[in-house]
Amino acid sequence: MPRWGARWLPALWPALLAAAGCEGPQNALDTGGPYAARIAELWWVMLFLGTVVFLATMGLLFYGLIAARRRSERDAGELPPAHARRLVVWGGVVVPIFIVAFLLVYSVVVGRALREAPTTDALVIDVIGHQFWWEVHYPHLDVITANEIHIPAGEPVLVRVTTADVIHSFWVPNLHGKIDMIPGRTNSLWIHADEPGTFRGQCAEFCGTQHALMAFHVIAQAPEEFEEWVAGQREPAPPPADPVLQRGLEVFHGSACVYCHTVRGTNASSPLGPDLTHFGSRRTIGSGILPNTPGNLAGWLIDPQAIKPGNKMPPTNLSGGDLQALLAYLYSLQ
Ligand code: CUA
Repeated sequence: MPRWGARWLPALWPALLAAAGCEGPQNALDTGGPYAARIAELWWVMLFLGTVVFLATMGLLFYGLIAARRRSERDAGELPPAHARRLVVWGGVVVPIFIVAFLLVYSVVVGRALREAPTTDALVIDVIGHQFWWEVHYPHLDVITANEIHIPAGEPVLVRVTTADVIHSFWVPNLHGKIDMIPGRTNSLWIHADEPGTFRGQCAEFCGTQHALMAFHVIAQAPEEFEEWVAGQREPAPPPADPVLQRGLEVFHGSACVYCHTVRGTNASSPLGPDLTHFGSRRTIGSGILPNTPGNLAGWLIDPQAIKPGNKMPPTNLSGGDLQALLAYLYSLQ
């Protein structure tokens, strides 16, 4: 490898790594719908202009260095004053004003377009931030869930956000920019997924110890599938169908679970923690951080603080039989 290569290649690594990260989950440039696409377009235009300005500035800098060295060998003279003034006026004032003004107008136009309501009868979803999970209501469909937002693919959906405690920020990079969840205030943004798919979202405002583990998923479904999901979620929990599930429900009622959780159709009706009426149908636990498997759930129930220190769920002290019955009951909540 030539010597310049050995010197410069390491400097390129960050750029190569950044390029390698251009696909995949939670990537604002891997767009899943028109809102994210507009934001990505703005980003690329800014990157392009920024790159042109950077290269032109560096070109001038090197030209200046080389020209100065050559000239100093000849006569140590300076640039003619008129020439120097033109360079400053055009390169330092006129061109930057045009570029900054263009970017300002362009970003305002994009910002306005993102806020415009595309329809008046869109599906509305209310999302409430909690330390450290997401409460999700479908006010017109009578559905309440948590940490998992189902939407129909191919249509715009209005998401209204607020918070029950501190400031959080709702962000699904593949679908839209972020929007802050502020106490006493409701903000809103539109999301629209072109195709069915799962998009990871993340709290984007530091909100406490488990801010980094405050995740969720947006699941875009074909409209018929979404209707089916809604119909299922509207149902209350079925009564326990066998003695094990009956014992599980008794454990649920007899332990700390009822102080925070709701299971519609039972006596558990506290709104403090996530609604568990259809817990078994969810894909993750702990606000999007672990797959919803019996092993993970058992660990979570016994010692949630070991998995997510600082979350508000207390540990439980259950016998093996009670734990198994509780797991079976929770997974019967489909
Ligand atoms: Cu919620 Cu950060």
